[in-house]
Amino acid sequence: MGSTLIRNAVIMTMNETNDILVGDVLVIGNQIAQIGANIQVTDVDRVIEAGGKVLLPGFIQTHIHLCQTLFRGRADDLELIDWLRTRIWPLEAAHNEDSVYYSAMLGIGELIRSGTTTILDMETVNHTESAFQAILESGIRAVSGKVMMDHGTEVPLALQEKTEQSLKESVELLEKWHGAAGGRIEYAFCPRFVVSCTEELLIGVRDLSAQYGVKVHTHASENREEISIVESERGLRNVVYLDHIGLAKPNLILAHSIWLDEEEKRIIKERGVKVTHCPGSNLKLASGVAEVPELLKEGIDVGIGADGAPCNNNLDMFQEMRLTAFIQKVKHGPTVMNAKTVLQMATMGGARVLGLEDKIGSIEVGKLADLQLLDLEDFHVYPSFDADWYSRVVYAATRGDVDTVMIDGQVVMESRIMKTIDKPLVLR
Ligand code: GUN
Ligand code: FE
Repeated sequence: MGSTLIRNAVIMTMNETNDILVGDVLVIGNQIAQIGANIQVTDVDRVIEAGGKVLLPGFIQTHIHLCQTLFRGRADDLELIDWLRTRIWPLEAAHNEDSVYYSAMLGIGELIRSGTTTILDMETVNHTESAFQAILESGIRAVSGKVMMDHGTEVPLALQEKTEQSLKESVELLEKWHGAAGGRIEYAFCPRFVVSCTEELLIGVRDLSAQYGVKVHTHASENREEISIVESERGLRNVVYLDHIGLAKPNLILAHSIWLDEEEKRIIKERGVKVTHCPGSNLKLASGVAEVPELLKEGIDVGIGADGAPCNNNLDMFQEMRLTAFIQKVKHGPTVMNAKTVLQMATMGGARVLGLEDKIGSIEVGKLADLQLLDLEDFHVYPSFDADWYSRVVYAATRGDVDTVMIDGQVVMESRIMKTIDKPLVLR
């Protein structure tokens, strides 16, 4: 791995005081060792001349389905439950070992190209091993797990699981992959959503996640039909039910959380539950508008995720950041969701959702070296220090501006050329 000196960058640290500096960053091994002007080192393995490019922490996406990358373009104009029943579940049921691997690699390639260095990922019922293999080879930082679903009548046979088998397979994967690649890979239990899980399964997840000290990643309160199914089957609102089971804890991450009532918001806040906002997906599936400003104001940790490719298209965080801001601007006015807030959600906010705030999310000495270098020359030739860098990154930059990406101290893309993904993506 060695050492890398990144010279002459505009460093958007995203630290507590939001310092923006012009200078150098020295990476030794997988850590940021020094930040400063004109760092002098005699022995460094690699020098990256940033030449005024913008250095940012890699983006952290807190809700992704790598296994759905290949389903892009097949999910149009339906709401959640119909979409799952008629498109996503049959397609997930048709996956094999190879197709999950290629779907994951394709997705990871798109994520890295657009500056994402960490994901919270949810796979399908089968072949999760292939996704972990792609994560391992690609170099991306990931918290991932097999989806769990032991309930529901309209689920294809290939996705139907017995409760015990779902828990057993999850634990086997956890024991193999949690902490792999020097800690770059973590396991999370992924009960899909209450609609597809028995109470017995959710209780098993509660106990095993506590036993192993891992996260629980699920969908909740995304769609009104979903909520009414949960209410009619379990007699409680979605998040109230999760709390009743004992799952509402700081290691629980809820994707979407659009239709929360006051009691659910209180539970999320008091129990330290984390939330992921998925703006592109919420628009595409006509799910609704999440009250992100209110959740943030309550002190709830909210990250951003593209969801699967059928929802967002190309897993591009630049697009998700803009949508996060734009949706709220239309609803609540121009300043409520400003560029700095959105960029914080995409970096430190995501780190807090994953409980990794001491390791990633900002450019600070001692943190892991997950970095992206943006080449914004095209639209501001004279970088001046009073520029509004937040506005430029959130409203003007695109994934095409991502020049170089480093994860865990390893350069995974340099001068727009991928370094770790070199296999041709051909499906057998
Ligand atoms: N709820 C349950 N499964 C899914 C899924 O695959 N995608 C989304 N967006 N919501 C879900
Ligand atoms: Fe999802």
